[in-house]
Amino acid sequence: MNLLAIVGSPRKGMATDKLIDKAIEGFRSKSPECKVRKIHLMDHEIGFCRNCLACRESKADGPYVKCTIRDDMDWISEELTKADRLIFGTPVHEGYCTGIMTTFLERVTWTFAKPTGRALTLIGCPVPRATGKGKKAVIIVVSGIVPPYYRKFCDDATSHIKIALTCSLNAKPVGDMYAGAVESRGVERYFGKAHKLGRKLI
Ligand SMILES: Cc1cc2nc3c(=O)[nH]c(=O)nc-3n(C[C@H](O)[C@H](O)[C@H](O)COP(=O)(O)O)c2cc1C
Repeated sequence: MNLLAIVGSPRKGMATDKLIDKAIEGFRSKSPECKVRKIHLMDHEIGFCRNCLACRESKADGPYVKCTIRDDMDWISEELTKADRLIFGTPVHEGYCTGIMTTFLERVTWTFAKPTGRALTLIGCPVPRATGKGKKAVIIVVSGIVPPYYRKFCDDATSHIKIALTCSLNAKPVGDMYAGAVESRGVERYFGKAHKLGRKLI
């Protein structure tokens, strides 16, 4: 099994990174033979989507189509395709995903999806280009100040990531966690939850 972890924090070794490591540990405890790769988005060149829509209009086969921008999304897209299990982690910035994660998700949207879906009265909604058995995914959102009991005011990130997982990446979210107010509460109190979340990926 291939596990791919995507780190949306600009900071290495801090709260989001630590919780992702715990989730990886949890997954490994159930699947010791798994292959794990962790990608810190901050370390790579990922340009802004330019809305050229070449990907959305592309009729090419396959789980994704190439973006017109040549950068690190070329190989990251390959890694996303190879993975059977995904962990997405982001700190809360302004109640939302970080800009780094948002840039990445925008690039994923239509490269991994085609506009053949319908929802309510809308046509042209994204559906994954990949067919067949989907991946499983978990989401970790970390806030510095806002505690879990105010999560609904500070967590638009989880729903945003869920849409990318289900509508583009052919992945089923099987769990998520919100590690709130880590600045005052400390991140360590969330380690157990993150470990358990990783085990859900089996
Ligand atoms: C630009 C910016 C915006 C932020 N916005 C929020 C916020 O809306 N709510 C909150 O609780 N914390 C906010 N924070 C604090 C981060 O969520 C917190 O520092 C988090 O632990 C960072 O994760 P990391 O340790 O993995 O980098 C913000 C931090 C930055 C830099």
